[in-house]
Amino acid sequence: MGPRAKALRTVGRSLPPPPVQRASSEINRSPVGEKRNITENPGNSLSRTQTPMTAQQNLPADRLPELLRGMPKAELHIHIEGSLEPELIFQMAQRNGLTLPYASVDDLRRAYAFTNLQSFLDIYYAGASVLQTEQDFYDMAWAYLERARADHVVHAEIFFDPQTHTARGVSMQTVIQGLHRACEAARSALGVQARLILCFLRHLSEQDAFETLEQALPYRDQFIGVGLDSSELGHPPEKFAKVFARCRELGLRLVAHAGEEGPPAYVWSALDVLHVERIDHGVQSVKDPELMKRLARDRIPLTVCPLSNLKLCVFPRLADHNLRQLLDAGLAATVNSDDPAYFGGYMNANFTETFAATGLTAAHAYQLARNSFEASFVDAAAKAAYIERLDAFFATFQ
Ligand code: ADE
Ligand code: ZN
Repeated sequence: MGPRAKALRTVGRSLPPPPVQRASSEINRSPVGEKRNITENPGNSLSRTQTPMTAQQNLPADRLPELLRGMPKAELHIHIEGSLEPELIFQMAQRNGLTLPYASVDDLRRAYAFTNLQSFLDIYYAGASVLQTEQDFYDMAWAYLERARADHVVHAEIFFDPQTHTARGVSMQTVIQGLHRACEAARSALGVQARLILCFLRHLSEQDAFETLEQALPYRDQFIGVGLDSSELGHPPEKFAKVFARCRELGLRLVAHAGEEGPPAYVWSALDVLHVERIDHGVQSVKDPELMKRLARDRIPLTVCPLSNLKLCVFPRLADHNLRQLLDAGLAATVNSDDPAYFGGYMNANFTETFAATGLTAAHAYQLARNSFEASFVDAAAKAAYIERLDAFFATFQ
């Protein structure tokens, strides 16, 4: 843990144990405009046929950012604690009587210089220690949901890390009810549908995950699934085989971070041992051609987070990101923000900056937005309605 993160850790009650450890204007060469048959996967409700996207195929490159910003989209990979902006950290510290070891918001923001996942996680867990009351959780989620609406995110599946809070003495009820109340309010006040996914911290034990699941089950109707996050290297998915099997029995939807920094073997075991329905990140999959075939064949969604990958040095430059390679290989990749307060941008920044750096086109934009709805955990009717809305946007954009 770096010294700055350590200093912030001393704030308030103690934290849980730290984790160990081409710009091109070329037009539509993607498969979007073609009819494609995709092998059916019984556990996966992705559509087998892609509708043609015709209206925007000759869109001038300078109109692309506006298209990206305005298109309806789903966000499937956002850690709500990673949306806590420095301004809110300062406000919450003040109202909870905590003193931060930073003179100002800018001073705190200057500490956001990461070299890898662990260097980020140290400061991320420290920042989350200002969250103490149900209102804190509500305010954090509400701030994110307002930003989501501004970016035309119409559906969000939001990760939360309860162990980060329960280990400091904050109750599961405080965490879940604060977040859930904000999600409920967003539906009517913002027109954003939001659902919660409880993530287990993989640097902790499977026993700890089981205890967390037990604490959360009284609120079973307030979250739709479980995920696996935190320090990837040295903590393979199979460490959590039993608790994921139990979650599967309970009818929870399953996702896991895999192949962010970790090897393709972790993606294989997330699929074959944990039986997850989506892979969070998964960008290391390109190192294994057999895995790429499997992900394409089964249309397993990857929730890719380009600005996160850049800030955590997974790719040296955004132009080197492999999002286009994933799409070209027929994978159901989506674009997401991960921890937007720490990585320099919410959904639309992820779209516009990645497209500018890699030369993706309007056809890719359609494909990515469509993938986001198809990969979401909503029923078939809601999926169809989202896609109709997307099609209407593309048909009328001018
Ligand atoms: N927790 C928050 N952000 C994360 C990331 N990018 N990878 C793993 N765990 C996380
Ligand atoms: Zn993540």
